Parts: sequence; structure tokens; C-alpha cells
Amino acid sequence: MKILSIETSCDETAVAVVKNGREVLSSVVYSQIKDHQVFGGVVPEIASRKHIELISGLVEEAIKKAEVNLSDIDCIAVTSSPGLIGALLVGVNFAKGLAYSLKKPLVPVNHIYSHIAANYIDNPELKPPFLALVVSGGHTQIIEVLDYTKFNIISTTRDDAVGEVFDKVARVLGLGYPGGVKIQDSAKNGDDSAYNLPFPKADGFDFSFSGLKTAVINLVHKINQSGEKININNIAASFQKTAVEILITKFLSAAKNYNYKNLVLAGGVSANELLRNRLLKETKLKNYKLQIPALRWCGDNAAMVGVQAYYEYLNNNFASLDLNASSRAF
Ligand code: KG4
Ligand code: ZN
Repeated sequence: MKILSIETSCDETAVAVVKNGREVLSSVVYSQIKDHQVFGGVVPEIASRKHIELISGLVEEAIKKAEVNLSDIDCIAVTSSPGLIGALLVGVNFAKGLAYSLKKPLVPVNHIYSHIAANYIDNPELKPPFLALVVSGGHTQIIEVLDYTKFNIISTTRDDAVGEVFDKVARVLGLGYPGGVKIQDSAKNGDDSAYNLPFPKADGFDFSFSGLKTAVINLVHKINQSGEKININNIAASFQKTAVEILITKFLSAAKNYNYKNLVLAGGVSANELLRNRLLKETKLKNYKLQIPALRWCGDNAAMVGVQAYYEYLNNNFASLDLNASSRAF
């Protein structure tokens, strides 16, 4: 059973071939970072145009690398939500054309669920139920994975997503785009206790990051106005430590409340070294099992889409050729 999967929800154009759910035969990702860098962030219009340009070449490449023919493909899968609408539409439309011409079923995949599914690739033992923390540029959520295609959203962010705040803080500090990894690198040379940043309050297991973001922006303005020399590394380290502690505190209290000992980390921000190390340490102390994706599966890719699509396929979650994309998550 081979699935050809397509991901174009943001600024990565990606295609993969996945066999029997968890075996990645090929995964090609074109990161558009360079195309957006000069603008300091993703420009939706440019992302769509770039996807259009790249998609057919990447499908060919994925097929070739997997050493299969298009006629060997049993199913076409595509991220249909959430994401940038114009970007999603490129992948969805291409997938429809392929499914139509090959006369194969079409499976729509939710981007957030596919991030969770990235964890199945390297861990054959991982299976639901478990509790997932999904942290990306667009989402911050704690999700009960009741079964492969059955989810219960426990909490979300009231305002900004954590990845978005990493990107914003990086921009304010003049570190550039993409911000997450730049903050991480800068923080390595900084003192994380240099500044006491606020730990925002949000009810229950919900997140809130706008207070932290504003606090960093105000701090930078204050230092600039006073004429002092700004220590970027210290601010990056203090910010990163606070953001990571917010995520870990909420996630672990949700785990306790909902009685989960099997935990999974997912999404672009799960590449963050401090988050990975701190969470590994805390879960070890509590005798919890933690699964984190290999670095290559943290950011957007199509392999994770093919993996989730396999379970959607088994549950007959097919789309007809009038499938539309949606920018909203659910
Ligand atoms: O999942 P993803 O690739 O795209 C979305 O679905 O949004 O996540 C991208 C986000 C960006 O905000 C990026 O800055 C962040 O993940 N990110 C990181 C790191 N690597 C990527 N954030 C913190 N530390 C990192 N090492
Ligand atoms: Zn993503």
C-alpha cells in the first residue's frame, strides 16, 4: 500500500511516498526560506507562486527517489487544512488532478494531525492513546489522541502561537527569519536569568503568549531609549527559557489531570533543543514516556502527511473531487 503525499500549507513545498503507513520510501522538501527572507517573514502570495512552480518537479523527484512508478501508487494524500489558503490550494488542486488521472482515492489530511503522526515514523511501538503537545508557527495545542483518527482538543492558545512569538521576538532583536532557530542559537551565548519575563496567566490548560511577546518588545524599546547597549543573547535566552517553561508547565499539568503517562511532542517548535531536553528531563523524573520526532520530521514535510493519510485511508476518510482547502484548523 503506497501513498503519495503532498504538503503545501505554508512555506515548504513537500512530496513523499510512504509505504504501509510508517515506511518512508522518499521525502523531498523544498524550503522557501530564501524566497521569504528578504521580507522578514512568509509572504503568502509568494509562497503560492513558488508552490506552483515546484510541485510537479518535486512529485517526479519523490517518485524517482522511492524507486516506484506513478502506476504503483494506491492513494493520493494532501494537506487540506489549516494553513495559508492560497498555498494549500496549490497542493489540493494538484492532488485532485493526480487522483483523477490515476483513478485513485484522494485523502485529505489535517496539518496538525500530520505533525503528530510524524512521531510514528521512527517509533514502531507508538500507538494511541496518548497526549500530544503540538507547537508550530500557527498552533499551540494540547490534544488527546484517542485513536489514529480520533482527537480531542484539550486546549489551545488564546492569542499567539508559540512559534509565531519566537519569530516575532527574533525580528525585534534583529535576528531575522526564521526566528525559532536564530533565537535558539543566540540564547546559547546568553544568560537566561538576565531578565525576569512574565509567565502569562490563562485559564485551565490554555496558553497565552501575547503578554510575553509584549514584555520583550517593551524591554527592547526601554533599553534602546536609555541608550544602553542591548545584549541580544541575554534577551533571547531569557525569552526562550520562559516560553519553554510555559509549554512544559501546562503540558505536564494536563497530563496529570487527564491521567496520561504517554506523551508526544510535535510541530516545528519541537525542534527546539531546550524544549526537547527540558521535557525529556521532566518526564523522566515523573516516569512518563515521551516521544519526540527526529529533527528532520519536526518541520513541515510530506512524509508525516502520508503517515496520517494511511490511518485516514483505513477509516475510509476519502474526499471527492470537489474537495476544497480551508485555512481553519477544524
Ligand atoms: O510546523 P512548522 O514548520 O510550520 C507550521 O506549521 O507553522 O513550524 C514553524 C515554526 C516557526 O515559527 C519556527 O520559528 C519554529 O517552528 N521553529 C523553532 C525552531 N525551529 C523551528 N522554534 C524554536 N526553536 C527551534 N529550533
Ligand atoms: Zn507545520
